[in-house]
Amino acid sequence: MRRGNKYIGVFDSGFGGLDVLRGIVKELPSYNYIYLGDTARLPYGNRPKETVYEFTKQAVDFLFRQNCELIILACNTASSDALRKIQREYLPKKYPHKKVLGVLIPLSEEAVKYTKSLKVGVIATVGTVQSKSFLRELKKLNPRIEVFQEACPLLVPLVETGKQNSKKTDLALKKYLKPLLKENIDTLVLGCTHYGILEGQIQKMIGPKIKIISGSELVGKKLKDYLSNHKELEKKLGKGKARVFYSTKLTANFTKLGSKFFGSNIIARKAVIK
Ligand code: DGL
Repeated sequence: MRRGNKYIGVFDSGFGGLDVLRGIVKELPSYNYIYLGDTARLPYGNRPKETVYEFTKQAVDFLFRQNCELIILACNTASSDALRKIQREYLPKKYPHKKVLGVLIPLSEEAVKYTKSLKVGVIATVGTVQSKSFLRELKKLNPRIEVFQEACPLLVPLVETGKQNSKKTDLALKKYLKPLLKENIDTLVLGCTHYGILEGQIQKMIGPKIKIISGSELVGKKLKDYLSNHKELEKKLGKGKARVFYSTKLTANFTKLGSKFFGSNIIARKAVIK
């Protein structure tokens, strides 16, 4: 395989992670990127942990086959249910020199930086909430922090079908945010890639005093720090500005809404993963 042609892989269950990739490309434009969305098997958020692990492992295999050197699991559900096992068990056995990183630590570190009341809200999928992954990471950083989680199962299907500005979405958001507002949180983590597109609406509902922490901009900044601290890995990455998009199901929505999330037009290729 040609040296200097290595990619950074970004994985999500759907197209929500394209918002994270947009932020990464903004910070680090020169690298080569491959995006994979497992739209054929979305949503991950309602699936058992074991299934999310199997699917994520297959996605990781696919991206490493495409010459990725480093993979970012932009999907919070995959980061919650699969990342630790992949890092501790799968990589050492199968890809000892490659890296897979998630989004939970960057989001949690940023939340801890902002909160003054030490009351942090997290909205996420059922799987992410049940895994208690944000609770664990936030408490690790500051054991005095109180974490209030709310699973929002209606939001992913609403965003996936392009209904982000509908009355239904407004009502669902109101219902999900109400219990968190009662707890006087001062920081809200958007713990799901799909919620980035709802950030404006959410901020309007919660008011300007509550800080929203979202992966959109943050993950790129954290990756920049990571690469400057891991020069050996950085040197292996190609700098040809390639952007390649894969989806396990080619739908008009993936292209249309994906382009919106990414901020410019994308053309997706079909990926077969199993
Ligand atoms: N992309 C997933 C996440 O960030 C949510 C979508 C899904 O349920 O598959 O958690």
